[in-house]
Amino acid sequence: MPAPWGRMQGVRPNKPLYRLLDAGHSLDAAIAEVQRMYGIADDKASLLKRVAAYEYPWLQSLPPRAVSVYVGIPFCPSRCLYCSFPSHSLRELGQERQRFVSAVLQEIRALGRCARELGFSIDSVYVGGGTPTALAASDLAVICGALREELPLPWQEFTVEAGRPETLTEEHLATLLQAGVDRISINPQTMHQETLQLIGRGHSKQDIEAAVARARGHFHTLNMDLILGLPGEKLEHVAASLEWVLGLQPENITLHMFSPKRASRFTSERDTWDDLLPEGKLAAQMVELASQQLDEAGYHPYYLYRQRNILGGQENVGWTLPGHACRYNMIMIAERQHILGLGGGASSKFLNEDGTLVNLSNHKDVRVYISRVEELIARKTRLLTERSN
Ligand SMILES: C[S@@+](CC[C@H](N)C(=O)[O-])C[C@H]1O[C@@H](n2cnc3c(N)ncnc32)[C@H](O)[C@@H]1O
Ligand code: SF4
Repeated sequence: MPAPWGRMQGVRPNKPLYRLLDAGHSLDAAIAEVQRMYGIADDKASLLKRVAAYEYPWLQSLPPRAVSVYVGIPFCPSRCLYCSFPSHSLRELGQERQRFVSAVLQEIRALGRCARELGFSIDSVYVGGGTPTALAASDLAVICGALREELPLPWQEFTVEAGRPETLTEEHLATLLQAGVDRISINPQTMHQETLQLIGRGHSKQDIEAAVARARGHFHTLNMDLILGLPGEKLEHVAASLEWVLGLQPENITLHMFSPKRASRFTSERDTWDDLLPEGKLAAQMVELASQQLDEAGYHPYYLYRQRNILGGQENVGWTLPGHACRYNMIMIAERQHILGLGGGASSKFLNEDGTLVNLSNHKDVRVYISRVEELIARKTRLLTERSN
């Protein structure tokens, strides 16, 4: 089967396209050129065109002299099979939580003051991870309170991930509402109990339904993540998961294609799992079927990216109902605004005038992050200050 994205190596298919649009090409001409350069399949070129038609004009309206802020909370109730994100299981490193919260507060205060003094406005704020709601509600309240106090208002969007449904207690919910959060994520990945057990998620389909019922009506946008191509799943599993999630009516649904990550348990136990993964043709059918279900339900693809070893050479796509596209996701993938990354493993991006970037990542190991926080603050302060004229 030919590679769906042809010779494209980059994980952001929109970047070469937007460079052509910046240079004044029409969308049709730019798509044709990118398709010719990389040998992209027709269905992927149409997907890219749909995303660009939505996202590119929106990117032109981003305010100048603004930053978005990402806060990484590197703790989870347990580690999922496929995960390589900077996160520690609470059982393993939970005792570091208090020192971690102090370090994050230090970063929020110092960089909030820096952004204020340099006259940057705050566009969107995204608290992710890991699982932010794995912290005690009181710790999360302190972090959200510091963000609200230190980062100049108004913000355009405030997301907090509550990825694992069992962590969204009434207390956490009250904390998020009090802090003015307007977008949350509750992530099923699949509706199938057998798969949930296999991938080490400690929740059931009913836990998801209960968390969604608790959150319902309190937030402008609810996002739900699914992964296609999970070990042992076939086309009918994907169709059923999609149908069930659509029944819960979230405003955003993010479709990920399974991607074996080097630093995951999946890779260290690869021999056990390999035979359970779909081959390229089935992965493509899964994407096609899920996309059709989302299209028919009125969702629109609004951002996309790829991973190096993603199954079948496919992609991850964010789908939205009208009026609910996540600003932070578009900004982060398009790399068209400075991003201040605070907390465990968080990535910062500082734009240069010629369109290039300086990337800086906080340490993934929470103990190293805590011990280096002052140095990280100093480097980010300098990088933002250099871009303030
Ligand atoms: C930053 S992760 C964290 C979200 C949250 N902690 C959770 O697990 O619900 C965001 C999403 O990426 C997806 N993801 C993570 N690892 C993946 C992998 N190896 N392959 C495909 N998708 C993956 C999952 O859908 C996950 O919800
Ligand atoms: S809950 Fe999310 S971040 Fe945590 S281990 Fe699982 S996939 Fe990774």
